[in-house]
Amino acid sequence: MNHERLLAELSAFLRIPSVSTLPAHDADCRRAAEWVADELRGLGAHDIQFLGSDTHPVVWGRGPDVPGAPTLLLYGHYDVQPPDPLDEWTTPPFAPALRDGRIYARGAADDKGQVFCLLKAIAEGGRPPVNFRFLIEGEEEFGSKVLFDVLAREPQRLRADAVLVADMAYIAPGWPAVYTTLRGICYAEITVRTAKSDLHSGEYGGAAPNAHEELCRLLGRLKTADGKIHVPGLYAPVRPPTRAERAAWRKLPFKEPDFLKRRVQARALTGLKNHPVLERLWALPTFEIHGITGGFTGTGAKTVIPAEATAKVSLRLVPAQKLATVQKQLAAAVKKLAPRYVDARVRFLHGSDPAQIRLDHPVFRLLDQAFKETVGRGTVPARAGGSIPVVPALAKGGAPILLTGIGLPDDRLHAPDEKLEVEQLWDGIKVFRRFYELLGTEKRR
Ligand code: BES
Ligand code: MN
Ligand code: MN
Repeated sequence: MNHERLLAELSAFLRIPSVSTLPAHDADCRRAAEWVADELRGLGAHDIQFLGSDTHPVVWGRGPDVPGAPTLLLYGHYDVQPPDPLDEWTTPPFAPALRDGRIYARGAADDKGQVFCLLKAIAEGGRPPVNFRFLIEGEEEFGSKVLFDVLAREPQRLRADAVLVADMAYIAPGWPAVYTTLRGICYAEITVRTAKSDLHSGEYGGAAPNAHEELCRLLGRLKTADGKIHVPGLYAPVRPPTRAERAAWRKLPFKEPDFLKRRVQARALTGLKNHPVLERLWALPTFEIHGITGGFTGTGAKTVIPAEATAKVSLRLVPAQKLATVQKQLAAAVKKLAPRYVDARVRFLHGSDPAQIRLDHPVFRLLDQAFKETVGRGTVPARAGGSIPVVPALAKGGAPILLTGIGLPDDRLHAPDEKLEVEQLWDGIKVFRRFYELLGTEKRR
């Protein structure tokens, strides 16, 4: 492998600020899609198409065809999360920088670096006997609506013997994983309106309702300090992990004190104290506040009682929970918990059902073997706290979905100083390469 050339190529991809949720970056998303399409062309793929959107297209491609060989669909995303807060980055998010064997940039691990591995693994050292299909989307970080629509119209694109999704991490350094569940998500804005307009806080303070105060109280009722979410019905379908899972999780290289000290880097962990941390992360729903707007937040001071305040929030859902149900439950809970003199509304921005994947198909053994041969340890089954909205729709195609990845738990996805270890990058290319070879030469069923 020519490391220097590969790093230069990955840097070019990382330099494109393809932030899917910000309309100001529409043209950048399009450029990232074109970068992917050029790569596919370089690999000798044909039938390269932009599907579903001009600004956030799903990049489709296939081939070159190898008659009789198995078909593998590769999934990844070229879009990224917003990079703010900018002043907390050591070097700018879209100026990839190499430090201490790591490449720092927004998207380094999530997911451009991993898409890069999937693609470069095809070309490194002769072509493996596999019929590749490519589905690289540009809206994963904003709910994947474009890809959902494409798959609803054209489900035949999912025809494959297996689907490889590389958008996750090892469970610990040296411990590759294969994931059995992803949490779903229900993303919403809760807006509280308390008066016709803002009011002077001296003239009216003490007697007029304050939108921020009401919103804070509402949010505090929706989730209490003990970590419990007060959305009626929310926990009803939630099943505890099986005994076998609990036992397996206890053997994983995961220690709660390390998690607090090295990963969370806070003074305490919060949440439902009577559940182990891995269960809180993987097998229970969440309610998080992402940001609160409204009122006066500029420099200086303004004495005002805000009439409106909005919180961006999301709930994570676990298997057996349904997005459509949770949306109704959240809307009902907000109505119930807001005082009658307050106008409280919920607007849903995006969402997805949770995913559950069985590992009994023989192709999972090939992934395990590829990791074992390449990095010295096979894949441990784990669950994921994060979401990849389109996975349940991918699973409808009937092919087994391999959820894996080459990131590390401390890559700081969605946060300042996101990074990818360069060794993980090289290993990733080798692992996927080996997986393609094993799949291509496996005894035909
Ligand atoms: N790659 C992540 C999902 C992920 C992260 C899975 C960590 C497992 C471990 C993905 O890009 C992601 O961040 N998804 C969003 C989806 C949402 C915006 C619809 C998420 O989980 O917040
Ligand atoms: Mn991702
Ligand atoms: Mn992400």
